[in-house]
Amino acid sequence: MSEADARRKRLPAGADTSRAAEGGAAGAPVSASPETGEGNDAPGDMAPAEGEVAPLRPRRNFYGRRMGKRLRPSQKRYLADLARLAPAGVGFEDNPERRLVDPAGWFGDSRPVWLEIGFGGGEHMVHQAVQNPGVGIVGCEPFINGVAMLIGKIRAAGVENVRVWPGDVRDLFDVLPDASIDRAFLLYPDPWPKRRHHKRRFVNPEFLDPLARVLKTGAIFRVATDIGDYVRQTLEEVWIRRRDFDWLAEGPEDWRNPWPDWIPTRYEQKALREGRRPHYLTFKRRAKPGGPTG
Ligand SMILES: C[S@@+](CC[C@H](N)C(=O)[O-])C[C@H]1O[C@@H](n2cnc3c(N)ncnc32)[C@H](O)[C@@H]1O
Repeated sequence: MSEADARRKRLPAGADTSRAAEGGAAGAPVSASPETGEGNDAPGDMAPAEGEVAPLRPRRNFYGRRMGKRLRPSQKRYLADLARLAPAGVGFEDNPERRLVDPAGWFGDSRPVWLEIGFGGGEHMVHQAVQNPGVGIVGCEPFINGVAMLIGKIRAAGVENVRVWPGDVRDLFDVLPDASIDRAFLLYPDPWPKRRHHKRRFVNPEFLDPLARVLKTGAIFRVATDIGDYVRQTLEEVWIRRRDFDWLAEGPEDWRNPWPDWIPTRYEQKALREGRRPHYLTFKRRAKPGGPTG
């Protein structure tokens, strides 16, 4: 029996991996809701208009929302804090040549750095920052209303050990060196329920390859989701197809119960209200053959 087949035998009931997941980069941007797959007016990255100089930034397919309800005046004021909270060297204007940036430098020392991908309203990120003052936490979120919510929470908690990238995680991946991140969180990623949209999910090589590259050996990668088919695709893509992560579950309790330092995110609260069951998956970055050990 192959190693992949042996791993499939350990999957939770219902996480059927027999249907091949669609991998690879997504196709042309179209507007649709990541939760329902139905159309909305979300923009993709803008192409230059005729006569404009093409931007240096690569064109990236982004299918989610960047703006929601009109921001309150207080939330607009919060966004001014990005001048000090945004990590240096991530923006294209700031770093057009995409030189690598040591993330510990954002915190002025050599502390461990954790990454939260798509922090939503930021409750988990601020919770972890309060619980772990010796760690630096960098979060990214393209939805600007969520960024404003997070900054309100940062102000209320008075935490200093956070950096906020108001954009796509791929902008961070561009500039992060190999083996520079100690822990990563992917909490309730956009579910993209329609099968033809599964390639938009985070758990595809387009995102997992750079994530694996920037994680240190032994780094923990946590994924929470309430969607059974997302569990399937995560285990298929992170654990079965790849050779660089171990799944740390020994039994059902490990994926049915939250981590001891957990706080339910907004999305989890919604999922529970609507009767969906959370799953908590914990992976560990394996040693890189011949590469830096972190
Ligand atoms: C379903 S929401 C969950 C938010 C939050 N983690 C929670 O549990 O409440 C998924 C989030 O991922 C963000 N997201 C989607 N694509 C992203 C990307 N390429 N980089 C960073 N965040 C992304 C979305 O904007 C959205 O806020």
